[in-house]
Amino acid sequence: MNLPPKLLCLAPLLALALLPLRPAQAQEGPPPLTPEQSTAAAASYQQYCALCHGPDRAGYANDHAPSLKSPQLFAAGFPYIIGEAIAYGRPGTPMGGYHEEVGGPLSRKDIMLLTMWLGEQAGTAPIELPDGAVAGDVALGAKVYAESCASCHGAQGEGGTGTALGNATMLALTPDAFIRHTVENGRDGTPMVAFRDKLSTEQIDGVTAFIRSRSTGWNAPEPMRHAPPALDAYVINPDAPAPEFALKDGLYVSAAELDRELKAKKRMVLLDTRVTSMWERAHIEGAVPGPYYASREEVMANLPTDGTWIVAYCECPRAAAESVVRKLREGGLTNTAVLWEGIQGWVSLGYPVVPGNAAPKVAGQP
Ligand code: HEC
Ligand code: HEC
Repeated sequence: MNLPPKLLCLAPLLALALLPLRPAQAQEGPPPLTPEQSTAAAASYQQYCALCHGPDRAGYANDHAPSLKSPQLFAAGFPYIIGEAIAYGRPGTPMGGYHEEVGGPLSRKDIMLLTMWLGEQAGTAPIELPDGAVAGDVALGAKVYAESCASCHGAQGEGGTGTALGNATMLALTPDAFIRHTVENGRDGTPMVAFRDKLSTEQIDGVTAFIRSRSTGWNAPEPMRHAPPALDAYVINPDAPAPEFALKDGLYVSAAELDRELKAKKRMVLLDTRVTSMWERAHIEGAVPGPYYASREEVMANLPTDGTWIVAYCECPRAAAESVVRKLREGGLTNTAVLWEGIQGWVSLGYPVVPGNAAPKVAGQP
């Protein structure tokens, strides 16, 4: 296996995940999950993943999340590439990291079982792909990329309809053969068509080498844990008057309006509804975690019920935040709003965020 050095730290996760790929076992595939394991994995899929990847794993429910049922993904990616994507996410995209090590809700074992379950559901056995670099003509690949790929994957690999092929974490955790296999075979049921008959072998090798040449090395977060703020620090400016929001469609607040009311030091709660690992990386100052997968009781347990305004936001731009605000409104909290632009829009408009390790605001202090 040709893995980036940093992955040595992940040896336990990999050792578990790689076990079924050992040549001696490659024919039989991984041992089937027990009925209890399947039930638990199916439930955690619905809780954590269905929002974006869809209840049926077909993808594209929200945020352009890819399919988690195409045979090609599971042939080329099962199991460790998929396990790593779940564990560490794709920072900079709506795909957060779910491993406890980076502040997510899932243990290594949960992730392994979820990965195995996804593979079983897809019903495709992993194939053996060659390790190591795919040699190709990078200049030719750059031309192919601009002509045939950039329209969906973005001129700089930043993603769009297609996934972010320039994502450093994706590149760090993804072998060349996986990329090449995807280009050659496409992904059934998605906009990613097979280029087998559209490009020559030389062009496919070239574009693979070009994508790899864009890799700038490991860019996953160093493992870190930050305790969420104490409950008495949930309300920003607790003694100040309420903000004045003119909600669009009765639900949305704009970044400009939120910024104005924050600067005016109004009383409110800012709820970060992304997977908690993303709150840990960076959030709007004063925001507290209220992840989309928590039950209504869990989110509400920590929130004031005295009419204090609660503004929820997520990554890109609204799905997770809307699902949380729906729960809050069902629970009777009507002074609730969703940040229209999401945190990605917030950042791109030049508004500030703070890293997760910034000291939480303490009630009564400036
Ligand atoms: C908030 C939306 C969102 C949620 C929730 C989410 N994902 Fe994703 N996921 C995405 C997006 C968007 C991408 C593609 C990111 C990119 O590379 O551009 C992605 C990519 C992936 C990939 C990589 C697929 C590939 O084609 O390489 C896997 C695997 C994955 N997600 C699994 C999961 C699992 C399992 C869960 C639940 C534990 C989950 N995701 C939760 C949005 C989400
Ligand atoms: C019509 C839009 C479109 C075009 C054109 C396109 N792709 Fe894709 N590509 C996608 C989508 C959408 C996905 C995610 C599919 C899924 O749901 O699994 C994807 C997935 C991929 C992946 C897997 C990435 C991952 O995170 O697992 C690779 C690699 C890839 N494309 C490379 C290419 C290359 C190279 C080209 C040009 C030769 C290309 N694509 C052209 C839409 C496109």
